[in-house]
Amino acid sequence: MEKFQTRRRDDFPGLAGGWHYLDTAATAQKPQAVLDAMNRAMGKDYATVHRGVYKRSADMTLAFEAARRGVAEFIGAASENECVFVRGATEGINLVANSWGDANIGAGERIMLSQLEHHSNIVPWQMLAERTGAQIDICPLTEDGCIDLDWLEANLTEQHKMVALAHVSNVLGSILGANRAAKAAHKVGAKLLLDGCQAAPRMRLNMTELDCDFYVFSGHKLYGPTGVGVLWAREDTLNAMPPWQGGGAMIDKVSFEGTTYAPAPGRFEAGTPMIAEVIGLQAAIDYVDAIGLEDIFAHESGLAKQARDALRGINSITLHGPEESAGIVSFTMQGVHPHDIGTILDEEGVAVRAGHHCAQPLMEHLGEPATARASFGIYSDESDVTALVAGLERVSRIFAQ
Ligand SMILES: Cc1ncc(COP(=O)(O)O)c(C=O)c1O
Repeated sequence: MEKFQTRRRDDFPGLAGGWHYLDTAATAQKPQAVLDAMNRAMGKDYATVHRGVYKRSADMTLAFEAARRGVAEFIGAASENECVFVRGATEGINLVANSWGDANIGAGERIMLSQLEHHSNIVPWQMLAERTGAQIDICPLTEDGCIDLDWLEANLTEQHKMVALAHVSNVLGSILGANRAAKAAHKVGAKLLLDGCQAAPRMRLNMTELDCDFYVFSGHKLYGPTGVGVLWAREDTLNAMPPWQGGGAMIDKVSFEGTTYAPAPGRFEAGTPMIAEVIGLQAAIDYVDAIGLEDIFAHESGLAKQARDALRGINSITLHGPEESAGIVSFTMQGVHPHDIGTILDEEGVAVRAGHHCAQPLMEHLGEPATARASFGIYSDESDVTALVAGLERVSRIFAQ
């Protein structure tokens, strides 16, 4: 852990002043390298992409497309053409539901989700089901809060066309057995979409090994900017999907008699794209890659384990989720609303998330209206765990009075 840190906190202006930031699962703080890259992209390097014939624009286009190659390498994609830039994971899932979903899912056919999904991986499918008359099924969780793959395997049928699951839960930190889920989905002829929002910043990804059909993640949880994310799918899958937004840049030829569309990924990137954000995402990926995803995973899951072990010492605390968590720990304290936990911890300089975490069906399953959540990042260290525990001991003393 010593080796891992090497003064990394100093790279993050947002952490100045000794703040214990434990809300990285909501959004990660940004290293100076990302701010600098975006500053250059918005300043001395700024120009549009894909259109200009002048050198500045040609250079920016090269940088933009190099970033796409960087993303492809980072996630083990076969080609950069498999990587569509979207606004974030939410937009990526909406794209798949609207384009692939409308073209491939009809009345009476089924979509499989799980009890722990983020609203972003529920609502677009509900909207699709409303449009098409498709049905939604919910895969339950194991006792320790993982997606129950035994149940999934036993209950998928040939009516299921889409299985859409979180790779890592944003509330419980539970990690999906993605290969088993892929095998189960493919066995019945369904596609597998993985919501990788919480996995991309913590786990080495390889699209071929994962064997899913769609993968989405957001830049801002990966130490990059908001307003950019990635949808990955194989090129033939993307090229068989109809565009979902029309406009400039996504076309082959436009006439009033009819319009033809560009091949992927362009056909899904209508309009001027998020130029500085893509450059910032590339800088974030370079930063994370230089540390190494394997070390990041070990570091964050180690901190989560330390936190769980320490929190077990406070009698009134219930820990949710599995022991093996990808850097995310959710808990409740008997007789104390999570918002009060969050407010008192804030007074101690500790920032945690309190609420339903955009996962209300999971809250219902836990029998809690809300939980408190501590989530770790590459800048987190043992001092954050110590501050969290000390803060919670204070909460416990206040409410015991
Ligand atoms: C698991 C998961 N899925 C989807 C999302 C939505 O991401 P975004 O709001 O960046 O589109 C989040 C963000 O909290 C998440 O944690």
